[in-house]
Amino acid sequence: MNAAAPSFPGFFQGTEMPTAGWWEALWPDPAGVLAAVGLEPGMEVVDLCCGDGWFTLHIAKLGRRVVAIDIDPDLLEVARHRLAENGVTNCEFVAGDAYELAGLVPRPVDFVYMANAFHGVPDQPRLTRAVRDTLKPGGQFAIVNWHRRPREETVILGEPRGPTTELRLSPEQTVKAVEPSGLKLARLVEIPPYHYGAVFE
Ligand SMILES: C[S@@+](CC[C@H](N)C(=O)[O-])C[C@H]1O[C@@H](n2cnc3c(N)ncnc32)[C@H](O)[C@@H]1O
Repeated sequence: MNAAAPSFPGFFQGTEMPTAGWWEALWPDPAGVLAAVGLEPGMEVVDLCCGDGWFTLHIAKLGRRVVAIDIDPDLLEVARHRLAENGVTNCEFVAGDAYELAGLVPRPVDFVYMANAFHGVPDQPRLTRAVRDTLKPGGQFAIVNWHRRPREETVILGEPRGPTTELRLSPEQTVKAVEPSGLKLARLVEIPPYHYGAVFE
């Protein structure tokens, strides 16, 4: 989003991990975001495209067990360190491509959380099928996306931030990308100032 794109094959466009300063300013209450999308205590969760673990820590504090997945092993190390510093031990860190989700998770989970990455997935139906196959019956898939607003309007700490305007998805576009998998929209939630959550089950 504001750094050079890593050169991993399969890296999703416009999903570089932002620098910590403005990311933490944008997300002062990660636990509140998780509550808004319906994460509940005791769930088994995948944090898909977890980055440096800003949300993962709070998922693991609430959940029973977490698998945190990212294509970038260096970011996983940052996430691992963040959780260890906080004494959180119920999270497994797995380096891999989100498309390969089914092979990266040992058993089905209650909840797959994917924040700030779905917009960059080239084949969103393929990714969604992989998520569907990883969910227990009745399991949920929460996507947190930037609203489809012009990038110059999404200012944080004095600068426009986030993916390019062209990459951003409206809630309707997200629903259209996900529902062919068989997962159906359960709820849409606002996550001010610039995001929404779309939860499917
Ligand atoms: C913008 S960051 C968001 C991180 C975290 N979800 C958050 O909201 O704080 C997107 C993450 O997606 C990861 N990513 C990009 N392409 C991926 C792929 N094909 N499979 C798994 N992770 C990927 C990047 O390495 C990056 O850490």
